[in-house]
Amino acid sequence: MLLFLLVVGTLAKIHGHYTSGDAPVYHPLPHFWTGVGFCPAGSIDHQGISSALSSPALQMNLRQIAALPVGAVTHVRIHWLLELIDFLQYDSSGTPVYDFSKFDAFIDFLHDELRLSPVLEWMGNPGGFLLENPEEMPFYWEHLVKTTMNHQLARHGSSRIANWRYETWNEPDLRSYNMLNLTADTYLDYVQAVRRGLSKAGSPETIEGKLQPPMYRALRGPAGLFKSLEHHPLCWKLLEECNKKVRYCPIDILTFHRKGINGTATEIVNGSLALLAQIYEEYPNLKSLPVANDEADPVAGWSTPHEFQADVRYGVTLISTVIQHLQAKVANGPLSRLESISHDNAFLSYHPYEFTQRTLLAHFQMNETDPPHSQFIQKPVYIALGMLAKLGNRAARIETVNMDASHSVQVLRSVSGGMGGPGQYMATIFLSPAEAGPQLTPFHHKYTLNMSIANESAFITELLVPYITDPYNVWQQAGTPPYPNATLREAMRRVQTPKLHQTGPIWAYNSEVVINSANIPLPWAMLLRVCSVSWPKLRRPQQLAIAEVTHHEVFISWMEHPKSTQCLRSYEVWFKGRDSKGLSLDWVLISEGWHLPYPSFQYAPGDGGSVNGFYKVRGVDVFNATSPFSQIVEYMEL
Ligand SMILES: *[C@@H]1O[C@H](CO)[C@@H](O)[C@H](O)[C@H]1NC(C)=O
Ligand SMILES: *[C@@H]1O[C@H](CO)[C@@H](O)[C@H](O)[C@H]1NC(C)=O
Ligand SMILES: *[C@@H]1O[C@H](CO)[C@@H](O)[C@H](O)[C@H]1NC(C)=O
Ligand SMILES: *[C@@H]1O[C@H](CO)[C@@H](O)[C@H](O)[C@H]1NC(C)=O
Ligand SMILES: *[C@@H]1O[C@H](CO)[C@@H](O)[C@H](O)[C@H]1NC(C)=O
Ligand SMILES: *[C@@H]1O[C@H](CO)[C@@H](O)[C@H](O)[C@H]1NC(C)=O
Ligand SMILES: *[C@@H]1O[C@H](CO)[C@@H](O)[C@H](O)[C@H]1NC(C)=O
Ligand SMILES: *[C@@H]1O[C@H](CO)[C@@H](O)[C@H](O)[C@H]1NC(C)=O
Repeated sequence: MLLFLLVVGTLAKIHGHYTSGDAPVYHPLPHFWTGVGFCPAGSIDHQGISSALSSPALQMNLRQIAALPVGAVTHVRIHWLLELIDFLQYDSSGTPVYDFSKFDAFIDFLHDELRLSPVLEWMGNPGGFLLENPEEMPFYWEHLVKTTMNHQLARHGSSRIANWRYETWNEPDLRSYNMLNLTADTYLDYVQAVRRGLSKAGSPETIEGKLQPPMYRALRGPAGLFKSLEHHPLCWKLLEECNKKVRYCPIDILTFHRKGINGTATEIVNGSLALLAQIYEEYPNLKSLPVANDEADPVAGWSTPHEFQADVRYGVTLISTVIQHLQAKVANGPLSRLESISHDNAFLSYHPYEFTQRTLLAHFQMNETDPPHSQFIQKPVYIALGMLAKLGNRAARIETVNMDASHSVQVLRSVSGGMGGPGQYMATIFLSPAEAGPQLTPFHHKYTLNMSIANESAFITELLVPYITDPYNVWQQAGTPPYPNATLREAMRRVQTPKLHQTGPIWAYNSEVVINSANIPLPWAMLLRVCSVSWPKLRRPQQLAIAEVTHHEVFISWMEHPKSTQCLRSYEVWFKGRDSKGLSLDWVLISEGWHLPYPSFQYAPGDGGSVNGFYKVRGVDVFNATSPFSQIVEYMEL
């Protein structure tokens, strides 16, 4: 398939004429950016972590994150999950016995209900027992890891947890994390013990008559900051040991944390390249390990408020972070073995930084209701993660269109399906510079993109753009009330999804889309999707769930089928209530007038309205064809 991209300056003074190569080479595009993480608030012990993770606000936050388009977020890295396990006693042979009930309840919620995979960090001190026998710690770690794994395997089965990730202690060189006071030596013993526990978990399987060892599970680590050797000896020591005999290295994927300094994506990538260059210079054998940055954020300190984290700029920066990592991965440099990056932005924000902390959602604690409850608004960075999920599985090299000497628009083209033939899907992201603010005038360019993928196809463009997809702006205009009322909450939710820009059928094979960016304020991101009529049709939405927000208000979400939602335009949510005599009324489209390309909807019918009744949803694709309805779910308020 050939594509042709043409960008022409429409104003004489900006004379840009850009032609892409007309036969782009596509390389595989693994979606390596689908992890998020957070640390629960509260004390680090069984009681503190259990109560933090079972709080309705935290669970609603996760429910909202799980309601991104399928594949947008696949893994959640939560510190101190192991504290959910309680130590009960030693049995007669001196082996610890644990209570997994809290751990199981949370994992079931995450894994079965939300379809998110955990990143299990082997950090914590369940019930405090690890410090009772410090010299026996390796034995106890091996036992804890093996027992926890076997317990999960028995509950969920080996194949269903195949996507889970396992990592060693987070940032062990930091006193605030290293609560076992591990030293360089005891730390190495600990990592080896975790590796043994993982390897010994599971039972041998018989495949085609041959006895096979239990499935091998990769261990990630050391999740280090890797500042100076003097201050971060544990992580550096592990690398030194691994470099000596890389085959016996207990970790399989080298994880590190590099964040930006002043909030830019370039700083994250630069910092990672510099760190890896340093590591490889001293420990060249480690070049064979895949690497992952599991805290690839634009600026350190999640709770420190920054204006850019509230609005479209953070979303654009996150997309830029992904694009720049992709470029670095494709280039034959230190990041060529990049396995994944994760965003540490699944935290719960708090007053008065509802929008400005590093989170995906703005969190309002509505203290004046009885009982108090939480309201969530999806931030533009949430839109950004959803847009990235729509990319195909092969990508062309990033193209850049210069705006001025130091700013350019980046174009990431991707495709899925058979090359040139039927079943083709194309998704392109256009990204203006993240740093571009009001100082740059809107950019008078026209983007002409050849959309020829089939004789009969349709396209859709959606925007992430200041003011128009910016609930923070709506909140500011209303005077930043700590308890936004129903009217204001609805106004914010109206702008929390991407803006539908253009959509329509493409009848002729040689069609082009022309996008004029002159009226789009900076910074912005645009997602263009083109679907051939032969691409798999929308499947019915699955697992429709109605969760209580507060009295007379519910959060409705559902699961998408992974192979069919690329060509979705919007969802429809239908409701059937009862009249005062208890008789069923007609079905009503309650999402009329909303652009809902992501699988959720908050229903707050307002004065006198009831949320009691039946719900069903369906998707509408870019050809205006509808999917079958989901199952009907009844909701009754107590
Ligand atoms: C658009 O792409 C198609 C398929 O690669 C090609 O046949 C056609 O010539 C292209 N059109 C233009 C105007 O470049
Ligand atoms: C770890 O070290 C700190 C400071 O040296 C000390 O206060 C603390 O009691 C130690 N903790 C344990 C569990 O040994
Ligand atoms: C980051 O910001 C600080 C303070 O505003 C400034 O002094 C420094 O030069 C900036 N660094 C970079 C790399 O832009
Ligand atoms: C990143 O590194 C490149 C090359 O070393 C340098 O030119 C650039 O200024 C760096 N950018 C940032 C934001 O640190
Ligand atoms: C489009 O239709 C023309 C005329 O029917 C046909 O020759 C051509 O092969 C078709 N192209 C594609 C990509 O289906
Ligand atoms: C809701 O809040 C907005 C902004 O604070 C205010 O203008 C409006 O009057 C309020 N509406 C009601 C019904 O109280
Ligand atoms: C609501 O209550 C919580 C918990 O007591 C508190 O942290 C928060 O600041 C309160 N919110 C407002 C707006 O006062
Ligand atoms: C879908 O319907 C809308 C509105 O009725 C129309 O503008 C659009 O062209 C239709 N799309 C297709 C692919 O027919």
